[in-house]
Amino acid sequence: MNYIPENIVSEIRNAADIVDIVSDMVILKKAGKNYQGLCPFHSEKTPSFSVSPEKQIFYCFGCGSGGNVFSFLMKHEGMSFPEAVRTLAGRVGIEVPTRDLTPEEKQRFSEREGLFDLNRRAMAYFQHMLWKSRAGEPARAYLERRGIKPAVAETFGLGYAPKGWDHLIRSFSKKKIDPAFLEKAGLTVPRKSGRGFIDRFRDRLMFPIRDIRRQVIGFGGRVMDEGLPKYLNSPETPVFSKSRTLYGVDTARAKARETRQMYLAEGYFDVISLYQAGITNAVATLGTALTREHVRLLRGHAGEATLVFDSDQAGVRAAVRSVDIFRKENMDARILVLPEGHDPDTYILEFGAEAFQGVARKARSVMDFMMEDAVKRHGLSIEGKVRIISELTGPLGTIEDPVARSLYVRKLAERMGVDEAMIMDKVRVAPVGQPEKRAQSEIKPASFQGRRKRLEKKLVTMMLQFPEILPEVADREVIDRFEDPSLKSIGQSLVYRYRDYRGGRISELIDSVDEAHRAVAANLAITGEEWTREGCLNLIAQFETGQKRGSQDLLQRIEAASRDNDQALLMKLLKEKQNQARQRHNKT
Ligand code: CTP
Ligand code: MN
Repeated sequence: MNYIPENIVSEIRNAADIVDIVSDMVILKKAGKNYQGLCPFHSEKTPSFSVSPEKQIFYCFGCGSGGNVFSFLMKHEGMSFPEAVRTLAGRVGIEVPTRDLTPEEKQRFSEREGLFDLNRRAMAYFQHMLWKSRAGEPARAYLERRGIKPAVAETFGLGYAPKGWDHLIRSFSKKKIDPAFLEKAGLTVPRKSGRGFIDRFRDRLMFPIRDIRRQVIGFGGRVMDEGLPKYLNSPETPVFSKSRTLYGVDTARAKARETRQMYLAEGYFDVISLYQAGITNAVATLGTALTREHVRLLRGHAGEATLVFDSDQAGVRAAVRSVDIFRKENMDARILVLPEGHDPDTYILEFGAEAFQGVARKARSVMDFMMEDAVKRHGLSIEGKVRIISELTGPLGTIEDPVARSLYVRKLAERMGVDEAMIMDKVRVAPVGQPEKRAQSEIKPASFQGRRKRLEKKLVTMMLQFPEILPEVADREVIDRFEDPSLKSIGQSLVYRYRDYRGGRISELIDSVDEAHRAVAANLAITGEEWTREGCLNLIAQFETGQKRGSQDLLQRIEAASRDNDQALLMKLLKEKQNQARQRHNKT
């Protein structure tokens, strides 16, 4: 990005640690020189996502995504390059000058940070109203009535949005904050009649919603009586997307990583009550249906999720839907069904934390849950059993672990009173409703077939892993003779940028590669090869000999064709020769 001076980009790249950044979203384990984890960009059960601390790059051998720390943020957070650079700059404490920017650019540039900052100030305002103002008294009483201790309320940053139309707007206009920006943050809404804005949240208990790094991205607000809607949430903004947000992830993360377990509840109060009861590894979706995105986020913090639902119809239906998403995303889950009419909050309030832990230990596996649910729906008549079996053979076929699969098959057979082998038979033919197919473009980890392309691939790998050789490669015009377009593009970028190589890490070289080919470059770079100057020169020589042999070959074939008087072949070969000559000509 032209606006941020290259030396500063490079300083940021060097200061940031990719393992550190990726660890925010992925559980990484050391494996040899690299770290490994479950890829956050596609669903998988065995880790194929690698991060190299030494090279400061990542690559997924499953879906073929890869790059350096900037690419990771761009892909994971949907950021542009300058946004990724600025985000990291903030994290490693490096100042990015913005003096060269036009006001619009500056504004767009800093919009995200501006929104975080505004949300943080709004949180502080709501907190002040809750704890320090007379107006906050009913809200304090409400919290007490619901059994939330002040210290816990503080941990979650709870606040109060006062009654009235524009308290927040007026307080912020004194601080010279533009009302239009408040609207962008979702804190105000335009008046229905006339001009101007009113506060979105009025007379509500406020729940700040924070991301993993504790930045405030949005709010939920609850009425304190029977008013409607019961909860009001921030709208989608550039920093807030409900389908990718889990409430409580900032407080839940540490314990989830430690226990490898995460509770997934439905509401704000559930998360807070669980936390207060010592079950701090709990998150909730924000009144939206569970998405695959949510599950991928969860997988970045825990190996298994326990889904907590109410046993009423809606709760069970939601559980069934969620189970399906977990299955598609290949993440283990257990289902905890609470007595009808209870959510974790009311259950803990009535029976206490220990009772909750007790039922939690009895949470059922997904298969057990599906079996019981099917039995409940179809009954154990002959027709019922037939339906149950045909409904469950699909899901049974998707259980990867053969031991687990056969245990469940036996269990179902016993329950249905039929022969185990019969069910096993059906399970095998059941279409494997496996994790959804990935997008075609994502699925291809770079593969380079044929002797020639393999040699080109090797050369680019060498250039990435032993960049000292780049001047030599440039001088000998090796890349110009490449056949494979993506290898050629990578090679050209490297040669163009590092013709006078004076040092720099792999993670930096990758930034000079065209975005479309960056993942391929990461793939080549992450392999662990050792290079010496001599080895490199040999490889280049080998490529050059192959080239020469190729053109000599052609000459011989032309002679042969004219001897045999094979006009068609002769034409074809002559054309080929012309092409070669043109190629050789073009590169000068
Ligand atoms: N929700 C929402 N908008 C609504 C209702 C609910 O966003 N109009 C979301 C909230 O995140 C809420 C969750 O869905 O926490 C569950 O809703 P519900 O079961 O109705 O509320 P509870 O969490 O049980 O809230 P409370 O205990 O305060 O009654
Ligand atoms: Mn509740």
